[in-house]
Amino acid sequence: MLKDKIFDNYKESADFILDKIKIKPEIAIILGTGLTTLLDEIEDKVEISYSDVPNFLISTTTDNPGKFIFGKLKGKYVICMTKRFHYYEGYDFNELATPVYVLKLLGVKTLILTNASGAVNYNFHPGDICLITDHLNFAGVTPTRGNNLKEFGERFYPIDKLYDKGLRDLAKKSAIDLGFELKEGVYFFTVGPFFESPSEIRAIRLLGGDLVGMSTITETLTAGHCGIKVLAMSVATNYSSDRIENMDGSEVEDVARKVSPRLKSLIIKIVEELGE
Ligand code: HPA
Repeated sequence: MLKDKIFDNYKESADFILDKIKIKPEIAIILGTGLTTLLDEIEDKVEISYSDVPNFLISTTTDNPGKFIFGKLKGKYVICMTKRFHYYEGYDFNELATPVYVLKLLGVKTLILTNASGAVNYNFHPGDICLITDHLNFAGVTPTRGNNLKEFGERFYPIDKLYDKGLRDLAKKSAIDLGFELKEGVYFFTVGPFFESPSEIRAIRLLGGDLVGMSTITETLTAGHCGIKVLAMSVATNYSSDRIENMDGSEVEDVARKVSPRLKSLIIKIVEELGE
């Protein structure tokens, strides 16, 4: 049986963070693999290690335990998470709801997600930045399984507008202003930690998946439950396993790092224009 979600535990986590940052941020940014250069641009930083936050998830890697970084970006208060949590690390999907519920209690209204993914669509290539328009989740897992907390949302909730159209339009316009175009596509969630078999990729393509990856939907589905708008952007870091041989993930971080400056300028522009 799943452990129950306990509202007061999320509240205690959020209150601990609020006590340190004092101001409620309306924008949160969760940074994917190799995509942390944005942090250099944040002013008046307050850093809070995940491991200090009561009831927060305990990192499975000691080399990078992860932290919240709060501060100002283009004059707006943002809170960033330097590391996300994945199902393949051993967390229950139920536990994976924690970060976004805590962000909700901090006052976050817009969540910007970035990730690295495999390019399934033949028109997508390593280095492309893609807007996620929707997702496919056939893994049989959901962060909102288990007891429903009314304080966050209803038991049953729609997910047809998870990836906010207004934010996607803003991202597209911001990219054009910066001189490039975004690809747009559907993200297919896999639990990992292995990369997909070529047959799985062919099935994913047939089903309508353009990108494949092991993150993001946990956060998006939780955000959808508690009424946070999501903008999700994916860096295609590699061709899917039917387009290259020996896909072992070695290029994922390198490619993400190379694209990071471009994604960083895009996020800065989006944040600058948000709500104006
Ligand atoms: N598959 C799954 N997850 C990924 C990939 C991939 O090809 N690339 C980066 N994350």
